[in-house]
Amino acid sequence: MTSQTILITGGAGFIGSHLAKRLIEEGHEVIIIDNFNPYYDPSLKEARISHLLKDLPYTLYRIDLEDFEAVQKVFETHAIDLIAHQAAQAGVRYSIENPLVYGQSNLIGTLNLLELAKQYHIKGFILASSSSVYGDATSFPIKETDETDKPISLYAATKKSCELLAYSYHHLFELPVTCLRYFTVYGPWGRPDMAIFSFTKSAFEGTPIDVYGQGDMARDFTFIDDLVDGIVKALEKQLPWAVLNLGRGQAQPLMDFITSIETHSGKSLQKNFLDMQPGDVQKTWADITQAKTLLSFEPKTSIDEGVQSFVTWYKNFYDV
Ligand SMILES: NC(=O)c1ccc[n+]([C@@H]2O[C@H](COP(=O)([O-])OP(=O)(O)OC[C@H]3O[C@@H](n4cnc5c(N)ncnc54)[C@H](O)[C@@H]3O)[C@@H](O)[C@H]2O)c1
Repeated sequence: MTSQTILITGGAGFIGSHLAKRLIEEGHEVIIIDNFNPYYDPSLKEARISHLLKDLPYTLYRIDLEDFEAVQKVFETHAIDLIAHQAAQAGVRYSIENPLVYGQSNLIGTLNLLELAKQYHIKGFILASSSSVYGDATSFPIKETDETDKPISLYAATKKSCELLAYSYHHLFELPVTCLRYFTVYGPWGRPDMAIFSFTKSAFEGTPIDVYGQGDMARDFTFIDDLVDGIVKALEKQLPWAVLNLGRGQAQPLMDFITSIETHSGKSLQKNFLDMQPGDVQKTWADITQAKTLLSFEPKTSIDEGVQSFVTWYKNFYDV
């Protein structure tokens, strides 16, 4: 792809910062919007900017997507070609207790961005969606055409709503949009509220971990570099409209994942087996045929390599 000006929202976040690094290194002009909200320790967001993006050229706006005028100024200042919209209030469990912030960040924030994408004739809009739109699926692997009308968390409901808002902008104004449904993304610089992070932290601190669903859960764990490959390919393709799963294409038992963390940390974990939590699903497993066909998406990283990479980062970053 020839050099483009690309707006990444949520660029201080886990996925957005990795995407920014990759795109800057490929020669693109990257503009980042992030509000550095305190959903988890903002010092990790600051560290991604100061370490992961160290010495790289980019422009950062510390603004909120809910602030239409502030975001509009960014579009006035830069001739943006493409948007990779990663910013969102994430987290399934948190959404049950704090629904309003999901309405603000995910619904209003996304609507503001779609409206500006229309006004400024953006060539391609990538929307970070989620496997959570499938609810508690019963047939596997999950296809993009499977039911998404019964979200079992507020978070999932807002992610599906973002897809619907995006479709109407595509239909009415021919905005090219690709909705990418990510499946449990993990890797260095990952989010502290996600299992791999808290399990690894517990391993080094010698504290017990809570294992929900009595351990009988499976996830399609997707390594960050593979996911970023998929996002970059979607940015390159600029499909008129697509909804695509991005996963590894395999369901990994949670207990195997925990064993891999124990192996790479050299610590054994004490486990509290608990029931499923509201909003959680028992299993995810992506059918990635569509992404393979349309984007030549090809995830490469094994669970073992991915967990090793995460644990190595954790040890270095937290000096344990
Ligand atoms: N990590 C996963 O496993 C996963 C899975 C499915 C979908 N997703 C989606 O991928 C995207 C990125 O997730 P992540 O794991 O990097 O999360 P993250 O929380 O690390 O990153 C999101 C970033 O967006 C910023 N942000 C949130 N609301 C904002 C607003 N209103 N204005 C400006 N900035 C705002 C946050 O400060 C944060 O830095 C999200 O849309 C998330 O829903 C992630």
